[in-house]
Formats: sequence, structure tokens, C-alpha cells
Amino acid sequence: MSRKTVLVTGGAGYIGSHTIVALAEQPDCAIVSADNYSNSSAKTYDRIERITGKKIQHMECDLSDAEQVKALFGKFPGITGVIHFAAFKSVPESVAFPLMYYRNNVNSLINLLETAEKAGATDFIFSSSCSVYGNISSLPVNEMTVPGKTESPYAFTKVIGEKILQDFTAVSKKMKGISLRYFNPVGAHETGLLGELPNQRPNNLVPVITQTAIGKIPEMQVFGSDYGTRDGTCIRDYVHVCDIAGAHVKALDFLEKNASAKKYDVFNLGSGSGVTVLEAIQAFENVSRRALNYKVAPRRAGDVEAIFSDSSKAEKELGWQAKRSLREMMESAWKWEQHLAAEGA
Ligand code: WQD
Repeated sequence: MSRKTVLVTGGAGYIGSHTIVALAEQPDCAIVSADNYSNSSAKTYDRIERITGKKIQHMECDLSDAEQVKALFGKFPGITGVIHFAAFKSVPESVAFPLMYYRNNVNSLINLLETAEKAGATDFIFSSSCSVYGNISSLPVNEMTVPGKTESPYAFTKVIGEKILQDFTAVSKKMKGISLRYFNPVGAHETGLLGELPNQRPNNLVPVITQTAIGKIPEMQVFGSDYGTRDGTCIRDYVHVCDIAGAHVKALDFLEKNASAKKYDVFNLGSGSGVTVLEAIQAFENVSRRALNYKVAPRRAGDVEAIFSDSSKAEKELGWQAKRSLREMMESAWKWEQHLAAEGA
């Protein structure tokens, strides 16, 4: 019997699948994945097995349906920890379809917390986002930074989610929670066998870059070159997805080992450096030795001008630091895109 059983929601998705790979290396950790495949595929579990040699138990589940969540915990009794990734995550899509985002992202969290507590789970990690900070002038941001006005319904679902977790763990007898605020997770597993694989045309910068380079997208757009930044394009804090995955293992260990840990806490997960869109494109061109076909387009609704992190709290308390460079992020993303092309995906 494993020491702990961890439910990973969104486990067939980008960050969820990389976190499962990282968890699979932990001794005595049984893993269960739940996903509705709205932005992923069950094929991901085969990719995880090729890397880890482990078959991951999984169930297709719409977490916004309370009955399906109950069935999930009934099928897999003894879940001790939950890492909750499953959510819609596109900034522009949330601007266009706000109710879809509020219904899915908020209801799923409520259903999970309610059922997980009844099932005896004690540790809950919430996948949050730097987008909770909104447009912030004082950079870098740390966990004490007072958030600005959020720029999209997506971001606001993360603000609400953090508050729900904080309020719930405050009164729950056994449940403790951590919100992890990711900056911009990019890149792919070093084997090239696992990476970001959105079901539709991607919205995020790096998969758009690699799909443009491989020819899936004829010409990409740079959304705005008139921002008040060093080259006029938006600044983000890109962090390798495998570093983000490792942070989840550390956060779970932290909750498990620190019985006296606060009922709720928040940590930034970023590299601490800001990179503009044009610098990211340049970094990719240096790696792939291919000129990228792009044109400057109007600004995108919901984008903030600049944001990057101070992640020293995660370093001090979780023992976590982003290790992989922007070059490694682009190299791994490109290797994955080329692997997909070879697969005929
Ligand atoms: C980055 C920059 C775009 C595409 C993401 C996720 C969100 C959350 C926070 C984790 C922006 C520009 C993009 C393109 C471009 N992540 N861009 N052309 O919006 O910062 O948010 O990180 O929880 O889920 O969406 O990331 O990659 O969409 O955009 O110029 O074709 O790249 O304008 O400045 P974003 P992104």
C-alpha cells in the first residue's frame, strides 16, 4: 500500500502530465489522474508510461459535475493529496466566453474540495497564476504584492480560486492548501516525448513559435510593439515546465512533512527574469537556427504589459528554484515540436 495517493486533475494536460512524471519518481506515491480531455488527450498517458515505465490510473471526468467527482473518489479510495490543474486557461478565450470560464474553473474547484475532504484528503495544491497580479507597476512581484485589477476573466477565476481555498482550509479540520502562482510555463520534457499539445490552435507564445517554425502556422503575430518596454513588446517571466513540475513535488512534501504548516499559503513560481516577446523569438531562432515568420499585430485583449517574479519565498520555504535556462526552454520546446512532426501529429 503506497504511503500516499495523489490525485492529479488535468493530468493529461501540459503541466499536469509533467508533474505526474516528476511524482512517478517519488517512492511510495500512488498517482491517479482525472481529465475531461477538453484540451488534452488520453494518449498522454502512453507518453508518460514511455518515460516512467509506469501505467497511470486515470478516469475521464468533468470536475464541474459534482456526481462525476463523487464517482471519481469512489473509484479511487484513499486519496491523500490533490494537485488541481484542470481549468480553462486561455486569456483571450476567457475574454470572449466569461461564463464558460467561471462555471468550469470555479465549480470544479468547489466540487473537488467538498468531495476530497469527505474522502479524507489532507493536502491540496491549487494551480494558480501570475495573472492574479494584473497590471503591476512595481516589479518584480512577490507574494505580498497587492494585486492590481485583473485583466481577464481567466485571471479572476484564479483570484476567486485562491480565496476559496484559503477560506475552506481555514475551517476544514484536516485540509491544508497551497496556491502556486505560475508565471509562464514553457518548454517540454528533455526526452522530447512529452510536451504541450493543445487540441486547438495554441494561444500561448512558445507553442505558437514552434508551430510557426515547423510550418503548421504560416505566419505568427506579435501582439503589440507599442508597450512601454525596452523593445515595445510585452515582458513575461518564462519558466521551464519541468521546474514547475518539480515545485509541485516539493509543495506536497512541504504540506506532508510540516504538520504545523500554515493551513494555507501562496508561492510564486517564476525564474525571476523578464523576457520580451521579441527576445523570446530571438532565443528560439538562436536554438533552431531558423528565422521565424512573424508580423506585428495590434495588442491582444487581456494582456498585461510586463510581469516577472520574485520567487525567493519558494526558494526559502520549499527549497525550490527555477534551474533551466531560456535556451533549454526553447531547445526542449523545439525538440518536442519536431517529435510531433515525426509522429505525424
Ligand atoms: C505571452 C506573451 C502575448 C501568442 C499565460 C497563460 C495563462 C497563465 C499565465 C499559467 C503575451 C504574446 C502570444 C502569440 C504573441 N499561465 N503572444 N503572439 O498571456 O502571459 O498567459 O501565462 O497558469 O494560462 O495563458 O501567455 O503565452 O499567451 O502570451 O505576441 O501568438 O506573448 O501577447 O504578451 P500569457 P501567452
